[in-house]
Amino acid sequence: DGTLGWSGTRGDRFRVAVDNTVADPFSIHWHGIILPNGQDGVPYVTQPPIKPGERRLYDFPLVQAGTYWMHSHFGLQEQSMLTAPLIIREPRAAPETNEVVVMLNDFTTRDPSGILAGLRRGSMGTKMAVKPDLTDVRYDALLANRRPLSDPDVTRATPGETVRLRIINMTSGSNVFLSTGRLAAEAIAVDGEDIVPLPGTRFELGVAQRIDIRVRIPSGQGAYPIIAQAEGTDLLAGVVLVTAEAAVPALSARAPKPVGALTNGQESRLRSLRPLVGKPVDHRLSVTLGGDMAAYVWSLNGQVWPRITPLEVKQGERVELGFVNQTMMTHPMHLHGHVFQVTEVTGARLRGAKRDTVLVPPRQAVKVEFDALYPGYWMVHCHLLYHQAAGMMTVLHYQGFTNARYDPLASAAEFPRP
Ligand code: C2O
Ligand code: CU
Repeated sequence: DGTLGWSGTRGDRFRVAVDNTVADPFSIHWHGIILPNGQDGVPYVTQPPIKPGERRLYDFPLVQAGTYWMHSHFGLQEQSMLTAPLIIREPRAAPETNEVVVMLNDFTTRDPSGILAGLRRGSMGTKMAVKPDLTDVRYDALLANRRPLSDPDVTRATPGETVRLRIINMTSGSNVFLSTGRLAAEAIAVDGEDIVPLPGTRFELGVAQRIDIRVRIPSGQGAYPIIAQAEGTDLLAGVVLVTAEAAVPALSARAPKPVGALTNGQESRLRSLRPLVGKPVDHRLSVTLGGDMAAYVWSLNGQVWPRITPLEVKQGERVELGFVNQTMMTHPMHLHGHVFQVTEVTGARLRGAKRDTVLVPPRQAVKVEFDALYPGYWMVHCHLLYHQAAGMMTVLHYQGFTNARYDPLASAAEFPRP
């Protein structure tokens, strides 16, 4: 529809041709989408990289509706904002009065491979200005819809209407706090899945996660910034909703002071509107998140990508995936090709949100459950880009599934090692 990204309707086919017009190999992943494993876009796991000049076709049915996104899954390309929204609407949904997609990106003028090399050298210079353990990369800016808050994306709003914000954290490493300011709001979906509406004006959004927030524009004229602040920093980004006769205020891209850590307290309060059917767990898997901050090596169950042994499941099983974080950083853990339900946060059982990416705070454990319905090799990884690149990835494998292209060791070329 002329805007960046792709939007369609549940039940449609996703028929897209991807042309690689850049000089490097490329790979595109449809984040959060349930799809055939062979179209999941992970180089050396599900598909070969798309070569420069090559066209790759995608064609599969869309079985979900909600806020999703797409991004390069090759090397460090995601940092260069090879990211876009993928929005799927319900076929006969009552027309939403007004809808605003908000893409958040963290921006750096530095070369991503230089950042990774610096992290590996233990370059404290990149961390001086932020509290260690909150973020390990210092960014120049946070952007919303590719713009700085000093020159924000502005959307016309009508007094009295409701607006649905579809906020996508496309950053490479910035968990954010969101504020709707003076607007009364409720979160209505996370990671594309409807939740029991959660009222508030301040929300948390981890890397790769999405949150749909409905706000009500008061009567009378006004301008209403919707602001994100990156965890551990003073970086702000946002969009402004403005009525016809109101002026857009001047906004600074820096907060008066840095904000602290996400608490993940929000996760315990989320409830899925359509929880998984109650069923005993057939198979428990545990994933320990580990790392050596000094050497900048990050691991899952002590293994470092690409030298991993897949986690095995059988088709039809109800699987529990327990993440145990032994590090001092929060890791947004993502499973490809499935929707899981959060079932335990720091010891408390819940029928939480359905998601594809869950935050696991330092020294905490989070459990999720899903039904193993989609044979394949599916990535399980931390969505902090430099953690992925430093080894924090593994694979969930369905017993009996084979794919001759599966060759993680070939990805050495993708993430050059010192
Ligand atoms: Cu959004 Cu494997 O990633
Ligand atoms: Cu991580």
